[in-house]
Amino acid sequence: LRVQENYNLSGLNTFGLDIKARYFVRVQDKESLYEALEFARDRQHTVLVLGGGSNIVFSGDYGGLVLTPDFRGVDIARGEVSAGAGENWHRLVRHTLDAGLSGLENLSLIPGHVGAAPIQNIGAYGQELENVFLKLEATNIRTGEDAIFQKSDCEFGYRASIFKNNFRDCWVITRVYLTLSEVYSPILAYKDVQEEVARLQIDDPAPENISDIVIAIRRRKLPDVSVQGNVGSFFKNPIISSEQRDKIQQEYADLPSRHAEDHQYKIPAAWLIEHAGMKGMESGGAMVSEQHALVFVNIGSATVTDVARLTELVSSAVHKHFGIQLEIEPAHY
Ligand code: EPU
Repeated sequence: LRVQENYNLSGLNTFGLDIKARYFVRVQDKESLYEALEFARDRQHTVLVLGGGSNIVFSGDYGGLVLTPDFRGVDIARGEVSAGAGENWHRLVRHTLDAGLSGLENLSLIPGHVGAAPIQNIGAYGQELENVFLKLEATNIRTGEDAIFQKSDCEFGYRASIFKNNFRDCWVITRVYLTLSEVYSPILAYKDVQEEVARLQIDDPAPENISDIVIAIRRRKLPDVSVQGNVGSFFKNPIISSEQRDKIQQEYADLPSRHAEDHQYKIPAAWLIEHAGMKGMESGGAMVSEQHALVFVNIGSATVTDVARLTELVSSAVHKHFGIQLEIEPAHY
């Protein structure tokens, strides 16, 4: 087991924050995982599981053990697909499409590893992981015991699961199982996807067409992480009551919204941020992207303080203008 001390994490978080972990280890099999957990337990260190680092924000150095589960291998048996937590998400998507399976095409090009997908129930362009999720294998950080979580155990919600709530920092996800389909019915609920299908005059879109369309939309809309460090959406889209929505609409007739459960509405946080005048706002090396107001970008050596200040500036502006409290979307430590 190769535990490294004072390990620099700047290359392991896609925002590019220059921070350190007291200890760092990458594990590729169960034996090393058990050993690493024992190492932390013996020294009473907390453990942070770090996948692709594309949905995490740090507020400083991490004082415990940062552990990257690098479990590999993809198995495809008819519609049942399983993949190791360390596999790249988008590569898995393309692999399943090549195998003639559908279900993941709308989730193309989401950065990060397979093991992180259930934690926030990744979702995009009308599809969410929970719709194709079967079960997962995980190891308990405290006891080292293995367990299987069925879909109903995971308490999936909008950008949420039990692993983000009650079981935060309790389990290392090692393998994820999905049920995909050999029969295709396209998910065209999202306006951008519909418009692109119409523009390209595709009558009967195949999963690969939708994947290509989603890739093109993402490339066009979201800042390129290899150019400006970022972690995708920085806030969740808030869900508000119909009364609250009506009130905002009295002033802003063009407020976009989507119907959510229980007479509530999901409002694009990007719209709120832009209309609160925060698009392009800077704090040191951190900036609200000019391309997409929901994304914070690293415009050069952003520090944890820059990010914290920008978070505060944007949240308080949105609160002041609309009376809505934004919630940070990525995991934050
Ligand atoms: N908008 C603005 N200003 C902007 C950008 C967008 O006003 O600068 C408004 C537009 O009215 C637009 C609306 O916001 O119609 C929604 O924008 P978009 O379609 O880009 O989606 P989003 O709600 O901002 C969510 C997810 C994304 C996901 C897309 C597509 C969350 C927090 N984010 O973004 O997920 O890719 O929908 O499904 O739910 C991520 O989680 O990191 C992520 C990128």
